[in-house]
Amino acid sequence: MCGIFGIIGKKNCVQDLLKGISKLEYRGYDSAGLSIPSTKEMITIKNKGKVSGLQEKVESFNLFKDDAYSTGIIHTRWATHGVPSEANSHPHNGNQNIISVVHNGIIENYRSLKSSLISEGYSFNSETDSEVLAVLIEKFYEKGQLLKAVNKALKEVDGAYAIAVVSNEDINQLVVARKKSPLVIGKGKDRIFIASDPLPIIEYTKDIFYMKDGYVASIIGDQVKVYDENENPIEIKYEHCSMSPQSIAKDGYDHFMLKEIYEQPEAIESAIAGRVFKDQTEITLEDDILNKDLVNRINRIVIIGCGTAWHAGLIGRNIFERFTKLPVQVDYASDFRYRDPIIDENTLVIAISQSGETADTLGALALANENKTPTLAIVNAVGSTMTREANEVIYTRAGPEIGVASTKAFSAQVLVLYLVAMHIGTIRGILDVDERKRRIKNILKLPSSIRETFKKCSNIKKIASIFKDATNTLFLGRGTGYPVALEGALKLKEISYIHAEGYHAAELKHGPLALVDENMPVVVLALKGRRYSKIINNIEEVKARGGKIIAIVSEGDKEMKNITSDIIEVSEDVGILNSILVAIPMQLLSYYVAVVRGCDVDQPRNLAKSVTVE
Ligand code: F6R
Repeated sequence: MCGIFGIIGKKNCVQDLLKGISKLEYRGYDSAGLSIPSTKEMITIKNKGKVSGLQEKVESFNLFKDDAYSTGIIHTRWATHGVPSEANSHPHNGNQNIISVVHNGIIENYRSLKSSLISEGYSFNSETDSEVLAVLIEKFYEKGQLLKAVNKALKEVDGAYAIAVVSNEDINQLVVARKKSPLVIGKGKDRIFIASDPLPIIEYTKDIFYMKDGYVASIIGDQVKVYDENENPIEIKYEHCSMSPQSIAKDGYDHFMLKEIYEQPEAIESAIAGRVFKDQTEITLEDDILNKDLVNRINRIVIIGCGTAWHAGLIGRNIFERFTKLPVQVDYASDFRYRDPIIDENTLVIAISQSGETADTLGALALANENKTPTLAIVNAVGSTMTREANEVIYTRAGPEIGVASTKAFSAQVLVLYLVAMHIGTIRGILDVDERKRRIKNILKLPSSIRETFKKCSNIKKIASIFKDATNTLFLGRGTGYPVALEGALKLKEISYIHAEGYHAAELKHGPLALVDENMPVVVLALKGRRYSKIINNIEEVKARGGKIIAIVSEGDKEMKNITSDIIEVSEDVGILNSILVAIPMQLLSYYVAVVRGCDVDQPRNLAKSVTVE
């Protein structure tokens, strides 16, 4: 959840550290800090609040010119243990200020470690779990032996960590380690970079080494040495990272979220590329993914994910049931991993994740792996941990998603689930050629349908003003409209802080109808289709209680115009993939509501993009 960045080289690194960490701010942004080891002292500067605040603070020190400041670590925090404050922000230093540490993850046994260190006479300045690492490493430290001290300290800790450690007695050295929290190393021309993910590194180098669990690396000057958990040396294989720095810029949009919403046609085109062809009737999945033997063997599908990814999974269930006729179960990864789920070698477990780093989804995947259950990960972030843990991987290829609220990744997840379901349904003989042709046409039409839908969204800004002072709102849908309603409610609550509930429209009269009054805006997904007349009934029920209806409808729906004037049309014509189309006005609605309420759209309070702790 926190972001870590570090540089070691021969020229001043302070400005580059600040620039780099701002690219990781999506991982957490309640406080930030940096440490620069120097022969005189460990320079540590921290600030409660965003990286921009730290930048201002650092400017008052004279740190930007001297090439002696060529090694440094920096951190942006998402609080787990201890409130956001200067004292709790990273880096944390040992009692003698010789060692400085940044940490992402949770040290689970920090309480017992802390009390035994206190009984040995050590003191602590923060409420964090991370500080024990700094104190422990410093306790074991002897000049010139930073790696040894880190190894000794890590033997004492349980939990998850990505750490970067510097010492002002070894200013040319940086030691990093990883267990269950991501960490990469980038080899630049004359500098080495370490970070939670490649985003802050790619402007300097595309050569990225992905640290595995248990690895510890010592970087001295431009020499990188990596060791496994038994301290055996590892051969470093740098991988080429194709991400471009441009893909993580706002490109003239006010917010990343808006840019990412408008990138959806391209995200879908890229997810389709090389997998769907207009003159073919089968889906081409790369690398023989889900081969015939496996597809014919499975008798059940379990989809796991969290948040938006879980919503995509719920839509996936309807698609899989229709295309594969296999029983499908969708689970919160966090719940699945701590139950005794019924899975075996004939179950296919599909894990969905934008970041590929979500701790609960990784935990659930590990459980499936332990049970020898075939696993497939549908992931956006290239090279992320999940892509290494699952048996097979299909990338969503939506491109980097920086806004905390997931938008284009969601659409690409639904699309990839659709491709996988078609692939399985084809092999299992459920989908005949005509149906496949029709569905392939729909897939290929989707990007232009999304573009058409954007054109119809011009009234959303006005509709957003209805929500300006709302405190509660409902999102209703049926069929795949139900998970989309859940997703719409999640989007609204996370970025505008309005209490929003997604509900199955049929469940309305079983309870939530009691909430409806004239102060309650109710968003209803009411596309023409087999559930349309039922949805109209639900709308009437809300209207009769004075509720304000905002309806998302099929293009040209005249009936709805007699019911409410607040209508958003979608260019609906792509079958079950319409679930992607209806999500778009809801993303835009949430965005404009957040803007009109003056909220921080890309970095909503209390949240972070990558949830690497349970
Ligand atoms: C909501 C959102 C979260 C994530 C969830 C899972 O907009 O982004 O609900 O969907 O934290 O994250 P990933 O997909 O990275 O596993």
